[in-house]
Amino acid sequence: AKGDLPVVDPLRMMAKEMKFLTGNIRKLLGSGHPSLDRAAKYYTRAEGKHVRPLIVLLMARATSQCPKMPQLLQATQQASSAIDTPLSPLSILSDFNPSAGAENEAASSTDSDILPSQRRLAEITELIHTASLLHDDVIDHSVSRRGSPSANLEFGNKMAVLAGDFLLGRASVALARLRHAEVVELLATVIANLVEGEFMQLKNTARDEANPRWSEEALTYYLQKTYLKTASLISKSCRASALLGGADAQTVEAAYLYGKNLGLAFQLVDDMLDYTRSAHELGKPAGADLELGLATAPLLFAWKTMPELGALVGRKFEKDGDVARARDLVMQSDGIEQTRALAEDYVQQAIAAISSFPDSEAKDGLVEMAVKTLQRQK
Ligand code: FPP
Ligand code: MG
Ligand code: MG
Repeated sequence: AKGDLPVVDPLRMMAKEMKFLTGNIRKLLGSGHPSLDRAAKYYTRAEGKHVRPLIVLLMARATSQCPKMPQLLQATQQASSAIDTPLSPLSILSDFNPSAGAENEAASSTDSDILPSQRRLAEITELIHTASLLHDDVIDHSVSRRGSPSANLEFGNKMAVLAGDFLLGRASVALARLRHAEVVELLATVIANLVEGEFMQLKNTARDEANPRWSEEALTYYLQKTYLKTASLISKSCRASALLGGADAQTVEAAYLYGKNLGLAFQLVDDMLDYTRSAHELGKPAGADLELGLATAPLLFAWKTMPELGALVGRKFEKDGDVARARDLVMQSDGIEQTRALAEDYVQQAIAAISSFPDSEAKDGLVEMAVKTLQRQK
């Protein structure tokens, strides 16, 4: 309606860019080995939400009008045209068809304010995310993802792990071809951070105790883990997007802070939905975190007022009835509301981080992505 805030739909705004995303990703994943080819591309069939590439593209466009770093520095960091050359056969099995990209000309050469290197970064970000899902579903013994059987269920653990490794390998090749050392370093750090986050998650608290008492430290540990496991990828790819566009240091830092706060909010909401939604609604198992022995934000907040949760945390909800009891206590507490409030806080910080960007549709899109993070149901 007239007078209302303009309604921005980030996905529609980027429709032209997003249209080729899955196709381009599948092209990066081609292997001459039929079953590797199938396993590697498996999670690219059922369309994911593509949150990360969408944010990378919005950030590319939103920072295109921001101040640039000095020309001299930019020249030394410039991404090369190597990104568009087809991957050379990396092994006798890697079937890379050099002409396969031809029909996608529109996706790689447009007038737009988004550079080919930034578009490729969006694809790399999704590749790393998808690799982490392949590994995660093995670690979590998950049987479904995006409403279909998980890759580990479909192909077995060995193939699922190897497929994830293959994705990381191909993501690395594509990354190297950006010829931008700082961006390579950022995304390589993300891969290490994902593993560090997953390792931290193997323990609920910094110290291993049978009956831990609540302390602020448990929350700090959880947030650090959450940064590594989720926010690192989003924040560092936002930073990389701004860098590839030649943005100045202040803009690059703002992009990073947007991604960091959005990533933290995103995982807090994820951990909340694990308590509040059904498996049917999520397209993946619900209530899974307690089953996996994980104490996430809703429980950590509940624990503050319900000390009896300490013993359950200490034994990772392993005793019969622990999961149900912990769940009941969390639902009786204000843990869910506190988790939502903290997520809201991060969303506000994400929006504040980019407030100095010049007004643009893409900036509105980034704000909308932050707002939507709180509203999502799956
Ligand atoms: C999903 O979390 C998983 C992650 C965000 C990261 C997982 C990271 C690894 C398995 C480390 C190794 C990976 C790589 C690529 C080196 P979740 O289990 O809370 O979410 P879910 O409910 O969607 O399964
Ligand atoms: Mg999982
Ligand atoms: Mg997991």
